Amino acid sequence: MTTTMQPTLGPSKLPQVGTTIFTVMSQLAAEHGALNLSQGFPDFDGPEKLRERVAHYLNHGFNQYAPMTGVPALRAAIAGKVAALYGRKTDADAEVTVTSGGTEALFCAIQAVVRSGDEVIVFDPAYDSYEPAVELAGGRCIRLRLPAPDYRPDWNAVADALGPKTRLIILNSPHNPTGSVLTAEDLDALELLLAGRDILLLADEVYEHIIFDGAAHQSLLRRPALAERAFVVSSFGKTYHVTGWKIGYCVAPAALSVEFRKVHQYVTFASITPVQLALADFLAEHPEHHLELPAFYQRKRDRFCALLEGSRFRLRPAAGTYFQLLDYAAISDETDVALARRLTVEHGIASIPVSVFYRDPPGEPVLRFCFAKDDATLLRAAEVLCAI
Ligand SMILES: Cc1ncc(COP(=O)(O)O)c(C=O)c1O
Repeated sequence: MTTTMQPTLGPSKLPQVGTTIFTVMSQLAAEHGALNLSQGFPDFDGPEKLRERVAHYLNHGFNQYAPMTGVPALRAAIAGKVAALYGRKTDADAEVTVTSGGTEALFCAIQAVVRSGDEVIVFDPAYDSYEPAVELAGGRCIRLRLPAPDYRPDWNAVADALGPKTRLIILNSPHNPTGSVLTAEDLDALELLLAGRDILLLADEVYEHIIFDGAAHQSLLRRPALAERAFVVSSFGKTYHVTGWKIGYCVAPAALSVEFRKVHQYVTFASITPVQLALADFLAEHPEHHLELPAFYQRKRDRFCALLEGSRFRLRPAAGTYFQLLDYAAISDETDVALARRLTVEHGIASIPVSVFYRDPPGEPVLRFCFAKDDATLLRAAEVLCAI
């Protein structure tokens, strides 16, 4: 008789990680037929002309591997946009890489530079993909809190946290889940802090075009002293209402891009060809789309907030992204996780509890709602929320 050897899996490499809250809440919303304002995606389509261009390339033989770094026309269009918006000249061949979503770009940047024992500064509440990527690379996240209600970094606390092991600081502006944005003064403080220090930056700017009240997005690409040490990540999924296409990019100086591409080429090798070609055409033909995006989403934010005026929820300020935080202190003393579940199951509306974005949640009574929804959905959502 032969004995079979059962492989032992051993300890998990990511013991803290379960299924993301976005999947959990979206599943719960589907099970209970709830309005889904939890996961961050629009319930309307991307521009018709963009979809037509994808169909064109799909149907005309552009279905094989794209170049590893991205379709040249798209990289050139990205470099053109970066120059026009942020005044930074980038080399489209050496400094721009197209990726399968912002998520892939964040992962590759972290794997490319974080080594065993390195420390990475992350601000809580934090988007949930950063820490697992740092841990897989053998690094450790130092999580600093963004103080409520304006959720801006405390640069003195950052200064105190920097040490010989600090390798990378991860920034996210406009910020998910709070909707806060970095200001020019924040970038001044960061520049001062980093002068003479050997620390890299990873800027998650996937909501760069969703910023309100006339504010200008403070991309790290505006500041040569920051851009020279930064991976800057964006996502076409957010900009063109096509999150399911999973297409984004990373802009980084040539030396950083070389290391980034070493990882990217073995994570995905290349991203979807017909979509890249279509985006290149659309960016060239319709530059107004991203210029109109702030007004488009500001209208939705203002509409959602106006509809909630009669509710018992209190609105937290939202300067960017398509998320609105609602404070429920006047409604319930349940935890945000318990309330988010109950609202989904009993009231038919799904949101995201903000505590899941913290390592040590401060116990604040806030839920995150996504307002990237058509007007009828926002109206129905507000009716439900006003009745609670
Ligand atoms: C802050 C933040 N970064 C990155 C991403 C991921 O972007 P993508 O869908 O392009 O991978 C998201 C998506 O929700 C996000 O909110």
